[in-house]
Amino acid sequence: MSRNAEHLKGKTAIVTGAAGGIGRAICHMLAGYGVDLLLVGRNEGKLAALREELEAYGTKNLCLAGDLTRASFPGQVIRAAAEHFGGIDILINNAGIVQFCGMEEVSGNLYDAVMDTNVRAPFFLCLYALKHLRKSCCATIVNICSASSHKGYPGQTLYVASKHALLGMTKSLAAEVYRENIRVHAVSPGAVTTDMLPVIKPDWTGDEQMLDPKDIAGIIAFLLEQRMTNAVIDEVMVNRSTKEPFVV
Ligand SMILES: NC(=O)c1ccc[n+]([C@@H]2O[C@H](COP(=O)([O-])OP(=O)(O)OC[C@H]3O[C@@H](n4cnc5c(N)ncnc54)[C@H](OP(=O)(O)O)[C@@H]3O)[C@@H](O)[C@H]2O)c1
Repeated sequence: MSRNAEHLKGKTAIVTGAAGGIGRAICHMLAGYGVDLLLVGRNEGKLAALREELEAYGTKNLCLAGDLTRASFPGQVIRAAAEHFGGIDILINNAGIVQFCGMEEVSGNLYDAVMDTNVRAPFFLCLYALKHLRKSCCATIVNICSASSHKGYPGQTLYVASKHALLGMTKSLAAEVYRENIRVHAVSPGAVTTDMLPVIKPDWTGDEQMLDPKDIAGIIAFLLEQRMTNAVIDEVMVNRSTKEPFVV
């Protein structure tokens, strides 16, 4: 463990979408630093399997299965973490869903599902977490945004709208709370090899190597390692090495 990471041992983090591709890599990274975790996702079995994997790190982990689109669930998540662990130091808003269809095929229900998962849930998780984060020495929120927070793609108007909204929320919240020693970051990856990839990139043949979930976890580790320094990186945009640099 690097010297900059020692402050993380015994801290508490909430990871949403914990058992998904990127979420699972983030959980392993955090547990490796000795962070206790509240694992959140819809699938109870997947969360339990992840919790079992994490036992090897000797950290304390709790699963909370539920649907983040349910209005009451974000509050339940924050209460569970605060009550079980006695505080919250890190919130990783990672859960997300994507659609691939033309704008005219977007129904009201699909709109609500994407916006409630990708925007409403992180918004209220942040809102309810703030009073707990204020008591932490290293309060950090990481919102998993996307290249779609910066650019539009055909067939992804709804997802792109949700990820632009998440980045906008991240910027405003960061400005609102930085004087209270709470850091709010955006991590904005390009294509990552997870279950979501074939939906985001239906034309992907598998020939080109995309980002690995561990790459994203490594970026978050770097942000957390800087937490006790005076250096802040507000957003990290992450591209695969085969993509033209500095082009979103
Ligand atoms: N993969 C990419 O290319 C890529 C690129 C840029 C950004 N991202 C972002 O990265 C994040 C993680 O995505 P991923 O690629 O790891 O996809 P993934 O493997 O499909 O994981 C998504 C996770 O979100 C959870 N989730 C979705 N809806 C939920 C809900 N209503 N309530 C609770 N949990 C919910 C899922 O939980 P269950 O398994 O329990 O359903 C799953 O664990 C997302 O925000 C995504 O937009 C991904």
